[in-house]
Amino acid sequence: MRYRLWRFSVFCAGPVLPVFWLYQAWSFALGPDPGKVLVDRMGLAALAVLLLTLAMTPFHRLSGWGGWLAIRRQLGLWCFTYAVLHISAYAVFVLGMDAAQFLIDLRKRPYVFVGALAFVGLLALAVTSNRWSIRRLGRRWKLLHRLVYGVLALVLMHMLWVVRADIEEWLIYAAVASFLMMLRIPVVMVHLSCMIRGLRDKSQNLSQ
Ligand code: HEM
Repeated sequence: MRYRLWRFSVFCAGPVLPVFWLYQAWSFALGPDPGKVLVDRMGLAALAVLLLTLAMTPFHRLSGWGGWLAIRRQLGLWCFTYAVLHISAYAVFVLGMDAAQFLIDLRKRPYVFVGALAFVGLLALAVTSNRWSIRRLGRRWKLLHRLVYGVLALVLMHMLWVVRADIEEWLIYAAVASFLMMLRIPVVMVHLSCMIRGLRDKSQNLSQ
């Protein structure tokens, strides 16, 4: 199978950060509230990998390299895994495994409700990301997977609610998300492809 080593490398890289953070928590290197740090880091990692997943199609269109598409599904599943770890850390360290408190948070804290909605969307994407679902759902599969844009919007809203006044980091994520969404507009992609091809031709001419 093509890109086997590349896919395997991404698979090996996936658990590195969560394992490292858990090790840091275990060795008291995450400050006085390691639970909160884990919740925040896992949440940010889930969002970062969601953006990376969405970057794969434009990377492929711009570079023509099939390796980007070969890891797209895997990255989506890593995003889901990070989100599961984020919610698990919240359940263990913030809620103390109290399900009733979760229901109260869901009602009283809008950011928890929005995060839960995003997670339901991610779950739907993850369970239908296999070949069987693609075959079974046919054209509806593509339609369903457009849900990823809604999930992205919800996660950004969730984060904005959490960070509130301290908006700088959020702005970086939102800017990357907006740029990736812009790349989905066909006319933008065509212009950018032409620009990159022009630059490549120029550098080839110079090196000859
Ligand atoms: C049931 C679902 C969810 C719950 C209960 C939840 C809960 C939380 C909590 C408690 C925080 C930290 C609040 C604080 O620091 O005061 C947080 C932050 C965050 N969550 Fe979630 N979350 C959920 C879903 C998600 C999903 C699906 C994603 C991403 C795919 C996500 C990404 C984030 C991000 C990026 C932050 C901000 C972290 C930071 O700025 O440091 N969350 N969430």
